[in-house]
This record gives sequence, structure tokens and C-alpha cells, in this order.
Amino acid sequence: MIRRGASTSLDGLLSASSTNSPLSRVDVAYRGKHQSIWLKLEMHNPTGSIKYRTALGLLSALHRERPLGRSEWLIESSSGNLGVALAEIAGEAGWRFLAVVDPKTPQTLRSRMLGAGAELAMVDTVDDCGGYLLSRLDTVRRLLRESPSLRWTDQYHSTAGSAVHQTSTVPELMRQTGGLVDAVFVAVSTGGTIAGISEGLRRFVPGLDVYAVDVVGSIAVDGAGHPHLLTGIGATRRSTLLRPSHYTRLYRVADVEAIAMCRLFRHGTGLGLGASSGAVLAGLVRALADGVAPARPVLISPDGEDSYLATVYADDWLASRGVLPSVEAAEARARNDGLTFTPH
Ligand SMILES: Cc1ncc(COP(=O)(O)O)c(C=O)c1O
Repeated sequence: MIRRGASTSLDGLLSASSTNSPLSRVDVAYRGKHQSIWLKLEMHNPTGSIKYRTALGLLSALHRERPLGRSEWLIESSSGNLGVALAEIAGEAGWRFLAVVDPKTPQTLRSRMLGAGAELAMVDTVDDCGGYLLSRLDTVRRLLRESPSLRWTDQYHSTAGSAVHQTSTVPELMRQTGGLVDAVFVAVSTGGTIAGISEGLRRFVPGLDVYAVDVVGSIAVDGAGHPHLLTGIGATRRSTLLRPSHYTRLYRVADVEAIAMCRLFRHGTGLGLGASSGAVLAGLVRALADGVAPARPVLISPDGEDSYLATVYADDWLASRGVLPSVEAAEARARNDGLTFTPH
């Protein structure tokens, strides 16, 4: 179920005005220095993640191209959050939705898609980079050939998924900061979020520094691919939405660093964030180590802890993946550097 705020009329359902996620200030201490940061908490969107905005943008574009009729079938490949957003909006609007997912899609998110009336196609062929994305896309294309009436929102190529940030996230950030933001840190997967926020916010703040954060093993931005643990962030294909001009600098963080940041952040603030937020915090710490000291940095936190309780926050899961010692070592290194997070 869409949690709150959204109207059930079609215009209301597809309106970006149903978003207004809070900006929360946190104080960071690191190597004897102090830095305030602002987190844009996208867990407060109606479907629990930033992909609610993406879903609105993608669906509105499809609807403008040719109105979506009742009982029409939509299809999308998703690692979880977009699938939930599309499933819950489609469920309210009376459209049918087929989500192409993989074994890394968190069980909680799969259950939510099913609960909203979606059907799931599970893909379990590992692609050349050790992930499932390319196999999911092969499956979407095969299903589109077999059933041409399916309508694909296509988060990987549609610019509507990034443009929506210019009419929702960016005006919110401008209102919330009074334009006094000088850096943003954004996790990358399709590249839609960072492209939209960068293009939109730099219109108002031309000197804005945009820090892209990806995980080691992902080829979303560049580099060579190999398996990684986290879901939501990273990709086993290059982003077609992100251009080098969109970002100042890329920070590539290891899974274990992102997980350690999630755990330290929850320990210090009581707030549980998703894995991509941990990666973005790790990117910020790298920037601080490089001597970057923005006056008002905003970190985009795509989602909360809910779908990571059985993974990122579960010692037995980390042990079963053989990474518990390295997560604990990363936490210990950060503590030795005096890293703390405190609510402002
Ligand atoms: C958990 C998570 N991480 C990262 C991202 C960034 O993804 P993208 O580059 O596809 O916009 C998103 C969604 O926007 C997300 O939900």
C-alpha cells in the first residue's frame, strides 16, 4: 500500500507534489574536525524510497505517450525499490505490473510487490559481471517480444526518471536549504538520480560540487565488473543517463565500508539507513580525508533500514558471506579515526 499523502485520482497518483521528504541535520566528527551534513531522507516517500519519484516520472511519460488504460500490463526490471514503487502505484491505478527481479531482491520488497498485486518473474542466471542485471534485461526484452502489448517503463534509458528530480527533489532542496547547498553526494545505479539532481540543482547553484558514489565491482560509471554484495547501488552495465559533466568526482567504496557506515550511523543517531546511504556516508568520509570541507553538504539517502535488517544489519548474514571480520575491521578503523555521527 502507498503509505501516505498520495491522492487516488490518476493525476494525484502521478503528481510529484505527493513528495516532500525531510532534510535532517547530523554532526560528523572525523580526525579531530567537525562537519555538519544534511541527509535527504527518501525513506519518507509514500513507497519508502527515492524510486517513488522515479516511478512517477516514468509512468507519467508512458501515460503522456499513450494513455495507460485500466488492466494494461506494465513491465520493469528492478532490484527492489522501483519494483515496489511501480507495484504500489499500479495497484492504486488499476494497472497490472510484472516485475523482473533476481535472488538478491530483498524478500521484504518481493512480498510488498506481491501484496500490491504485482506478478514476479524471477531471473537466476548470473551475468558476465557476476550480477543479474543483464539477465533481467534479456528477460524483459524476451517478454516484450512475446507480448508486444506490455509497456516497459525502462528506467535504464528513459530520461523521465531523471527529469522528475528537477520538478520534485530539486525544488524541495532549494526550499529546504534556501539555496545554501554547496555539495551533494549521490549513489549511482542507473545514473538517473544523480543526472537529474545535478542538472536541476546546478541551474540554481552553478558552482555545486556533485560527488558520485558507486561500489567496487560495479561498472555503472566506469571500471571493471565483479560480484558485489549490495543491492540498489551499482550496476553490471554502464549508465546511459550519467555524463562526466554531471559530477565533480567519483568515490568508489567497498561493500564492507558502506555496511560499516550504516552500522556506525545507526549506533550514533538511532536512525537505520539503507546500504546506499552507507555508501554515500563512506564517500563523504573519503572526501573529508581528502581535505574537502563543504559548508553545506546534502547526502541523498535513497531508503531506510527496513529491507536491510536481514542483511546489512545481521551479523549472521555477514558471517555467512564471509565479510563480518572485514566489516568489523572497517568499523574499528573508522572509530580509531574518531568518526562519530550525532543528531544535531
Ligand atoms: C537503494 C538505492 N540506491 C541507489 C539509487 C540510485 O539509483 P539510480 O542511479 O538508478 O537513480 C537508488 C534509486 O534511485 C536506490 O533506491
